[in-house]
Amino acid sequence: MLALKRQPTISIKTVGPFDLGRLARLHQSCFDDAWSRADLAHLLALPGGFGILARLFEGSLSGIDGMRGVGFALCRVIRDEGELLSIGVGPSYRRRQIGAVLLRDCMERCQRIGATSVFLEVAADNHSAQSLYRAFGFVEVGRREGYYQRPDGSRMSAYTMRSDLDGTTLPEPTLQTCR
Ligand SMILES: CC(C)(COP(=O)(O)OP(=O)(O)OC[C@H]1O[C@@H](n2cnc3c(N)ncnc32)[C@H](O)[C@@H]1OP(=O)(O)O)[C@@H](O)C(=O)NCCC(=O)NCCS
Repeated sequence: MLALKRQPTISIKTVGPFDLGRLARLHQSCFDDAWSRADLAHLLALPGGFGILARLFEGSLSGIDGMRGVGFALCRVIRDEGELLSIGVGPSYRRRQIGAVLLRDCMERCQRIGATSVFLEVAADNHSAQSLYRAFGFVEVGRREGYYQRPDGSRMSAYTMRSDLDGTTLPEPTLQTCR
C-alpha cells in the first residue's frame, strides 16, 4: 500500500470563546494549580491580553487533539512591556519544538502591539522552561523567594526573566509552520 508521509506542521490560532474548554484542559495537564475557564476568560478580557493555541497536523489527518490544540500561551501587553502569563504544551507533545513556536509567535505579537521587552516568572526548579526562555534571549533580572506554593504546601522561588525585543532575530524553530 502506498503510504504518503508528510512532515508534521503546526498552525497558530488566536484563542476565541469556543477554545476556553480546550485551553483549560491543556492548562490542567501542564500545571498543578489549574486555571478554570472563568479564570482564563478573565485574563483574556484584560486590556492587552491575548492567547494563542498551537494546532498540530501530522500525516493526512490531524486527530482531535491536534485540531483542538496541543499547546498554548497567554500574554499581556501594557504600554511597552509584554508579559508571558503562561505557556504549556500537552505532556505527550513535548520536545517537538511546539513550545518554541508558541514563544516565538507570542514575542512577535507583543512586539507588533508595541512592547519593547517581555517579562515572565519561572519556578527556580523548572529547568526545561528556563532552557527554552534562554534560547529566546531571556535573562534573569530578579528572584522572588517562595513565590509559588506547591500542592504539598512547600514553597518554591521564582526567577523574573526579561528579553528585550530590540530587533535581534529570534530563533527559528525547525517545526514547519503553516498559516
Ligand atoms: C516548558 C515547555 C512549554 C516546553 O515546551 P516544548 O514544546 O517541550 O519545548 P520545545 O520542544 O519547543 O523545546 C525548545 C527548547 O527548550 C529547551 N527544552 C524544552 N524542554 C526541555 C527539557 N525537558 N529539558 C531540557 N531543555 C528543554 C531546549 O533548549 C529545547 O530545544 P531543543 O529541543 O532543540 O534542545 C513544556 O515543557 C511544558 O509545557 N512544561 C510544563 C508547563 C511549564 O512548565 N510551563 C512554563 C512555566 S514558566
